[in-house]
Amino acid sequence: MGRIGITLNRFLVEEQARHPDADPGLGPILTQLAYASKIIAREVGRAALVGKLGLMGDRNATGDSQKKLDVFANEVVVDAFTSNGLLYAMVSEEMDNLVELPGGENSQYVMCCDPIDGSSNTDINGSLGAIFGVWPRIPGASVEENCLRKGSDQVLAGYVMFSTSTLLVYANAQGVYGFTLDRELGEFLLSHENITIPQRGHYYSANLGHSHEWGVGVRNYLQWVTADDKENQRPYSLRYTGALVADLHRSLIEGGLYFYPPDPGHPDGKLRLLYEGAPLGYVVERAGGKASNGTSRILDIVPTKIHQRTPLVIGSADDVDEYEHFSSGPTRKRPL
Ligand code: F6P
Ligand code: MN
Repeated sequence: MGRIGITLNRFLVEEQARHPDADPGLGPILTQLAYASKIIAREVGRAALVGKLGLMGDRNATGDSQKKLDVFANEVVVDAFTSNGLLYAMVSEEMDNLVELPGGENSQYVMCCDPIDGSSNTDINGSLGAIFGVWPRIPGASVEENCLRKGSDQVLAGYVMFSTSTLLVYANAQGVYGFTLDRELGEFLLSHENITIPQRGHYYSANLGHSHEWGVGVRNYLQWVTADDKENQRPYSLRYTGALVADLHRSLIEGGLYFYPPDPGHPDGKLRLLYEGAPLGYVVERAGGKASNGTSRILDIVPTKIHQRTPLVIGSADDVDEYEHFSSGPTRKRPL
């Protein structure tokens, strides 16, 4: 049983004592993220009763239709980091520009976040997520330079999954940990200690509606992964929820991969580097998996724009390697 069931706050205190060299500035950020997550979870749970389903009528900076819950969640996260000096600046999917947070002039961190991931699921009671990545501030650099960072510079990243339960997963230099919200106590309790991802899985997640539009390398991969090869447990089973966090969480626990390659409607891929690819890539690498844009490691990419998109393949190390083998050369094939 170990430490299962202890509160997030107690866990953070114990971790700081175990790792005296660990950065003490990250615990308070996690505590505020947990607080914001409880408020978002409550609103997601009662959205149909309090007029929070449906669209705002606007589009966000990357052209997605904004849902009422997207806007609500963004306000909750910004509020959670206003006037407490925890963050210097923040990038959010739901804000056109980065913001410098009031009271954060002397803070040592910047955060990029997707306050509600998978918002096409809001109105159908489907799984939703939230994603965050935290970088240490570069002294003397501009706020833009501080936000346009490669994923490998993160010191903390994670996600929250709003589903049958609300689960907060975070990764830092020490490992990857999951906390389930006990709704009656109103506390996140340790439920997943030292998460590691299986080396290979037997599930794949992708929007196959676009498969005829993919490059030949990715189509070859799809053919391979769905081929009949019982000895090697193929075909893989398809699981696709429409929320990256939910599909990634399955891969993290049970193995497998998620991929969203470029297609004519999304020539640079659909997902955003700073608040989707980089934080989830950090979590998956810490757990022993991989994240790539099809040819290069996601965590090595230095963004030039805050809302930059990227193709993404993420999950079990062997599965991502296999995908890269096919996608990096259109003529590459393996025997089916
Ligand atoms: O945030 C983007 C996102 O909503 C992901 O959570 C999800 O995996 C993907 O887009 C779904 O895109 P599509 O509807 O094109 O399959
Ligand atoms: Mn998202």
